[in-house]
Amino acid sequence: MTDLSALPADFLFGAATAAYQIEGAVDADGRAPSIWDTFSHTPGRVAGGDTGDTACDHYRRWPEDVALMGSLGLDAYRFSIAWPRVVPLADGRVNQAGLDFYDRLVDGLLAAGIEPFPTLYHWDLPQAQQDRGGWPVRSTAERFAEYAAAVGERLGDRVTHWATLNEPLCSAWIGHLEGTMAPGLTDLTAAVRASCHLHLAHGLAVRALRATAPGARIGIVNNLSPIEPATDAPADLAAAVRADGHVNRWWLDPVLGRGYPADMRAEYGVDLPLRDGDLELIAAPLDWLGLNYYFRQIVADDPHGPAPRFRQLPGPNPRHTAMPWEVHAPGLEELLVRLAHDYGVRRIFVTENGSAYPDTVAPDGAVHDPERADYLQEHLAACARAAARGAAPAGYFAWSLLDNFEWAYGYDKRFGLVHVDYPTQRRTVKTSGRRYAELIATRRTGAGRSG
Ligand code: FCB
Repeated sequence: MTDLSALPADFLFGAATAAYQIEGAVDADGRAPSIWDTFSHTPGRVAGGDTGDTACDHYRRWPEDVALMGSLGLDAYRFSIAWPRVVPLADGRVNQAGLDFYDRLVDGLLAAGIEPFPTLYHWDLPQAQQDRGGWPVRSTAERFAEYAAAVGERLGDRVTHWATLNEPLCSAWIGHLEGTMAPGLTDLTAAVRASCHLHLAHGLAVRALRATAPGARIGIVNNLSPIEPATDAPADLAAAVRADGHVNRWWLDPVLGRGYPADMRAEYGVDLPLRDGDLELIAAPLDWLGLNYYFRQIVADDPHGPAPRFRQLPGPNPRHTAMPWEVHAPGLEELLVRLAHDYGVRRIFVTENGSAYPDTVAPDGAVHDPERADYLQEHLAACARAAARGAAPAGYFAWSLLDNFEWAYGYDKRFGLVHVDYPTQRRTVKTSGRRYAELIATRRTGAGRSG
């Protein structure tokens, strides 16, 4: 069994999901459409024409899912709250029926001894906000703070750990520049403006949560990648600096008080839509930082390409997941060490990490996924190595608890520790889920973790 002895004694083992990927029930109890409803219902946007209309039907089946988490022995569960359930329309009215769902879920988790880790925004912007300009306009950030305050008021008596945004890089760069996620734009100016307003939304939400949920421990979740130049030619080395700026520094620096990187501001050539005092808000002190890690990036110069002028090359390791992302666990160790040592971050959670493989249910009813089980152990071992170097994460959330709606890939990509048979909604714990449960149980008895 993997040596995890270097991990802190109170290390949390969890699993993560996101609202639109699992809940379904898209018009239940006053929910209005989000940009992902619109995007997934637009022909050609999502593989197979899949939508989140039903997903894992978690909105109705959550008690069964909480019981599954309990059977795995999870300490914590990271989920997201759907803004379009809570403030569905542009009128600002808070929909208590939407909040009721999360109220029940939080109570159910606490009763099962599982700590809730909600994220306020995992990409499901209410369509009504998109219609008013979406993230490229400032008012969206202000509306987000109002939504955050409503959630803080309702759940702040029971929730301690909060995340504001999940992977704002994807919202801004993939949603507004590459165009393969909602809202599907390909416009650098809109993307840069969106990035700043996402950060502002984060800062305003930190303030709103501190006011409504005293005792809250607040973080933001970024997806980061170690960057390696394809060769040591000067042009590739410079491309790697730009890639690091685009993928990592643009997302860390402003939140951690360093402002927006000057080299990238010059590279994008877009005026930042910031006002006096915004940078201070964006850099509001945090209690923790979330790191989502999936892959490293090997990059080469792309001199005639659009800003930021780099291309990503396939990783050399022959092991790839179904995405197809290169399997490279040392990248997680490297990022943890960089956050702790270069940025001075004192508390980090690995808020997502996981792998997609084409799982099938065997004739005996089991789902054998040894690659995912190995992936999980290798990445936990990377956390332990980082811990031995003074960069211990405080916990790890496997992506994902359940197979689910994998955005533009639809249901084709399965990341779950638990298999979902969509036509019947039957859940089956995979080999990887069992391995995780064993590992958690062994730590509890072996490493003396209580509870
Ligand atoms: C991350 C997302 C998550 C899931 C995984 C595979 O970028 O946060 O929702 O799609 O990738």
